[in-house]
Amino acid sequence: MKNAEKEKKRAEERSWSLHPGEAQRRERNLTTKEQQLLAKNPVVTEQAVFEKPELRRRAFYSDRHCLIFHAEVCQALEWLKQAGLYVDCIVTSPPFYGQRDYGVERQIGLEETPYGYVDNLVKAFCATRDVLKTTGSLWVNIGDTYWNGRGEHKGRDHKQQARRFGLRPQDRPGDGRLCKNKQLLLIPHRFAIAMQERDWIVRNDNVWVKPNPIPDQVADRCSMSHEYVFHFVTQRFYFFSRKAVGRKSARGTYMPPLDTWEVPISKGRPMHKATFSEELVRIPILATTPPGGVVMDPFAGSGTSLLVAKKHGFRSIGIDIKSEYCELMRDTLRSLLI
Ligand SMILES: C[S@@+](CC[C@H](N)C(=O)[O-])C[C@H]1O[C@@H](n2cnc3c(N)ncnc32)[C@H](O)[C@@H]1O
Repeated sequence: MKNAEKEKKRAEERSWSLHPGEAQRRERNLTTKEQQLLAKNPVVTEQAVFEKPELRRRAFYSDRHCLIFHAEVCQALEWLKQAGLYVDCIVTSPPFYGQRDYGVERQIGLEETPYGYVDNLVKAFCATRDVLKTTGSLWVNIGDTYWNGRGEHKGRDHKQQARRFGLRPQDRPGDGRLCKNKQLLLIPHRFAIAMQERDWIVRNDNVWVKPNPIPDQVADRCSMSHEYVFHFVTQRFYFFSRKAVGRKSARGTYMPPLDTWEVPISKGRPMHKATFSEELVRIPILATTPPGGVVMDPFAGSGTSLLVAKKHGFRSIGIDIKSEYCELMRDTLRSLLI
């Protein structure tokens, strides 16, 4: 392409960043060409919107780079929607089914059946769509659960202690079909299919391979050492920087990253046992957050996604239902001076 043409193309792309806000654009049907241009150069969320007084009033903590909400996920998403704040990249790890009791009302993860759990997750993630830019991506880390059906565990398994908290949903007798002893529930895939049925596009079911898993205490199956990180989008063209995360070839071009990620499990922090490893959110954040973009974690826990976002110069939003975790998040972010 000649220089003049290149410059014209760049100017056309740049002009898109000056277009009206996400809300107005959603009301207009964009042409394919317009969608392509926008995906390369998403509109930057204005700082004035990020710092709206009504959001600051509701926030547990706020500064120029970060908003933390101590709230149930759908409630906080409603506040963001009302404020017209749109994000570029949502990356999160919701509570897995029957794995932990966070000891708070309206927590997700302890529903009586896997169906109820998937319904609640899908409801929460469909609510994120109201605040996700059309050029944005949603990444969900989710692991599976076995039905057990044998009643409350009485043994003293110190390694698994955090996961033994009385009668878990999967310890109950079950329905004898999906919910029966020894059954791997295939929750990640049930969730992804339910999302497809709600009009999300699945781009990858990335596999997180754990080189240092906690071994399962079993004699008749393999020990689990992987989880999934689903990548969802809402339309054909969306922001994705292959250069930021790709594998450089000998010719200097970038090949996309592989969909298997070998990442050691995080040891957790004293206050939060289910923390993300920073490396696990690297590809999601760097590939799908444009310069000046906003990253959101709607089940933020200790705030690993927010921390990685801040380290790379992005703004971030964290939501968690437990106040202790909001405090932990705030302290972690404050300790990172940029
Ligand atoms: C698996 S942890 C997330 C850990 C996080 N990725 C980290 O690096 O620390 C899930 C989080 O979801 C929160 N949670 C559970 N139910 C929630 C709900 N309904 N709304 C908002 N947060 C919720 C829990 O308090 C917990 O911190």
